[in-house]
Amino acid sequence: METKTTIPNWKDKILFTPGPLTTSRTVKQSLLRDLGSRDYEFIYMVADIRQRLLEAGGVADGGYEAIIMQGSGTFSLESVISSTIPPEGKLLVIINGAYGQRIAQIAKVYGIEVIPLIYPENRTPDLAEIESALKADQAITSVAVIHCETTTGIINPIKEIGEIVKRFGKDYFVDAMSSFGGVPFNLAECGIDYMVSSANKCVEGIPGFGIILAKRDTLLKTEGYARTFSLDLLAQLLRFDKDGQFRFTPPTHSLLAYHQALIELELEGGVEGRAARYRANYETLIAGMRAIGFKEYIEPEDQGFIITSFPYPDHPNFDFEEFYRALNERDYVIYPGKVSDADCFRIGSIGRILPADMHALLAAIRETLGEMEVEL
Ligand SMILES: Cc1ncc(COP(=O)(O)O)c(C=O)c1O
Repeated sequence: METKTTIPNWKDKILFTPGPLTTSRTVKQSLLRDLGSRDYEFIYMVADIRQRLLEAGGVADGGYEAIIMQGSGTFSLESVISSTIPPEGKLLVIINGAYGQRIAQIAKVYGIEVIPLIYPENRTPDLAEIESALKADQAITSVAVIHCETTTGIINPIKEIGEIVKRFGKDYFVDAMSSFGGVPFNLAECGIDYMVSSANKCVEGIPGFGIILAKRDTLLKTEGYARTFSLDLLAQLLRFDKDGQFRFTPPTHSLLAYHQALIELELEGGVEGRAARYRANYETLIAGMRAIGFKEYIEPEDQGFIITSFPYPDHPNFDFEEFYRALNERDYVIYPGKVSDADCFRIGSIGRILPADMHALLAAIRETLGEMEVEL
C-alpha cells in the first residue's frame, strides 16, 4: 500500500463515516492535559460522565447504572455477553447485518448457546417470529438486537421487541453503538437491561472506551457468571460503587474529551437537539444523492438518519476505489460498504458536521462523477 508522510497541522479531512467521527476543536483541545487516574478531580469527572450518560438514556431518575469499559465498542459487547449470561444460559440473537452476526460470534467463543434469528440485511425483524422463538424455547435467558445496524443503516424496532422480551421475562440486550446520543430513546420504556455504545459515536468523543447502561437489579443478579477477568461488568460496577474508580488503567485523555463532548451534547439541546442536526444532514444528503441519480439500499421507512448505504451505480465507468480516492483528495472521507450480497458504499450523517458540509460533499460527488464520465 502506498504510504504518505503525515504533515503536522495538516487540515483535517471531514469524516462521513460511522466513527471515529469528526469532533469539535474544543473536544480535541480538552484532552491536552494530564490527570491522575486515582486523583479526586478525575474521579469527580467520571462520576459526572456517568450521570450525564444516564440522562442521555432517559434514566437519570434511578434503576440504571452507567459503566465505562476500556477498549473499543466490541470489548463492551463482549463484557455484557461474557459476564451477564447465566452459566447454562441461551442467547436469542436477532440478526440483519454484520454486527448482529458479531454478537453471535462472541457468544460462541464463550461456549454460550446461540439461537440465531436471521433476516435479510434490508429487512427489519418479524415480531411474530421473535415471539414464536421465545415460546418454542423456554431455556432462552437473553435476547440481543442491534438498534442501528450500521452495516446498512437500517433501524430495528427496539421498543416493540423489548415489549415482547419483557412479556417473556428475559434479559434484553441492545447494541446501540451507532445510535445512542443521536437517536432519542428511553431505556426503561424499551425494557432494556443492557445497552452498549462507544465513545467515538454520536456523543462525538474520541475512541478509547465503550459505555454500558445497565439495569442495576438485573446486573446485581449476575454474581459468579463472568467468564472473563478484565471485562467483568459486575466487578467494574462494584468498584465504581466502592470508590468511583476503574479497576484497571482508564483512558484518561479520551475521558477528558468525552466529558467535554457530553457538555457540548447538552448545549446542543441533548439527544433531541443532536438528532435534529443529524436528521437535517441526512435529509440534505438524500435529496442531493437522489437528484444526482443514486438510490438508497434500504427502503425509506426502515432507513435511519445515522448512516446510509448506496448501491454502486450501474455504469461501466464507475469504480469505487477511484471514486473514494477522488473524494479523499478533496478532503471528504466516505465509507466502504458492508452489505454481504450487494456492492454499496456508505455515507454517515453523524459527527460534528452540518448540512453545509453535506452540500460540499454533494458538489464533490458531482464533480468526481463528471471526471469519471459517469452519467446517471
Ligand atoms: C452496531 C455496531 N456494533 C458494534 C460495532 C463495533 O464497534 P468497535 O469497532 O468500536 O469495536 C460497531 C462499529 O461501528 C457498530 O456500528
